[in-house]
Amino acid sequence: MKILVVGGGGREHAIASALARNRKTALYSVMAKKNYGISKLAEKVLLCRETDLPRIVAFAQENGIEYAFIGSESPLEAGIVDALESVNIPCVGPTKAAARIETDKGFCRRLMEEHQIDGCPKYRLCQNSAEAIAFINEHDGDLVIKPVGLTGGKGVKIMGEQVDRAGAIAYAAQIKGSIILEERLIGEEFTLQAFVDGTHLIPMPLVQDHKRAFDGDTGPNTGGMGSYTMPDHMLPFVTKTECARAFGIMQAIVEALARTGHPYKGILYGQFMNTAKGIKVIEFNARFGDPEAMNVLSLLTSDLSEIVVRITSGTLTSAQVTFEKKATVCKYLVPEGYPDAPHAGDPVHVGDTNGAITYYANAEERDGSLVTLTSRTLAFVGKGDTLEAAERIAERAAASVRGPVRYRKDIGTDELLKQRIAHMKELR
Ligand code: AMP
Ligand code: GLY
Repeated sequence: MKILVVGGGGREHAIASALARNRKTALYSVMAKKNYGISKLAEKVLLCRETDLPRIVAFAQENGIEYAFIGSESPLEAGIVDALESVNIPCVGPTKAAARIETDKGFCRRLMEEHQIDGCPKYRLCQNSAEAIAFINEHDGDLVIKPVGLTGGKGVKIMGEQVDRAGAIAYAAQIKGSIILEERLIGEEFTLQAFVDGTHLIPMPLVQDHKRAFDGDTGPNTGGMGSYTMPDHMLPFVTKTECARAFGIMQAIVEALARTGHPYKGILYGQFMNTAKGIKVIEFNARFGDPEAMNVLSLLTSDLSEIVVRITSGTLTSAQVTFEKKATVCKYLVPEGYPDAPHAGDPVHVGDTNGAITYYANAEERDGSLVTLTSRTLAFVGKGDTLEAAERIAERAAASVRGPVRYRKDIGTDELLKQRIAHMKELR
């Protein structure tokens, strides 16, 4: 079976690795920059912009591609699924119209409101900066300011945390196009991802990502510095009822999209905030999370290639989706200065990774050594019977890397987990 993976990050390396566990799968890849790990797995690689649809479609046709797995959001926004499906290549990923659940935050909030879907925070959609500034000025509480479009996870500014009112106004003034203002939610965040075949959703283990650049959740927001999962696939600060509610919200989204003529298939990513007033939706993504994909796909014991076939034919059941009952900890190494002023072109040397799984991201091979580029470099996933065991494995591998890169030491530690639990207890 010939499967094309679109995207070149750590997430896509995890997707490619999981697909390649099926010996009958031949992998093809399209990516903007050469991913060291994916290159080793793929029969053939096309290096090009992930939004260059004519080139990607031609490459897929020339190579007799049978299925495509879209890893990243920008090709979804460009309509890659519509383009590939018009030449009869079924895709794991939504059409351009259904991907608006991620690519247009205004569309997402309106859909939730019109279909009376639980968990929508109070929000205000503003057409431009002037309207947003007027609202910020007349509103009392803290607001969160978001451009409606894609920002690589770095476009959100939170009043009372990252900016004061004047800072919020200054930020809103810089944004071109529509702006969403939302009530500031306080709670613990978690990610729930599901495989979706148009009507059926099969959930994956809950994950907690860490957006902030530095230990103790300080510093600017990043694409994600690392993440963990627990052996029971739950998180200790999310009850079974709360998890079921989050899943119910995702089912309602898929139903609402189908009802409006845009059936959803692919991976649906829900980012939730567990608050004192229940589960609230931060956002949906139309693809796996990066790093979250690395956690869950390292645990997947069933065949991702078979899941691809089932998603695209609308015949997915829970029988095709099984995960190991283990904890995982993922730690991303990033170039010094990331995300604000990342330094690129520095050699890094990976030492003894001691049982950790390595996923390459934005790193290039030059003269036989690995050098950093401007985005996240590579990640290690530790897997163990306990969170502690998984953390130790990921930590040792991360500490073995030499070069001007850094990572968060606190991700997956017992100390951080205890803080999360205490925070939730205090809020309840
Ligand atoms: P996003 O780009 O939508 O994933 O948002 C990035 C980060 O901003 C999230 O991971 C949250 O930590 C934070 N955030 C987004 N929306 C809100 C909100 N309404 N209240 C509090 N924090 C938020
Ligand atoms: N880890 C967050 C994201 O992929 O958007």
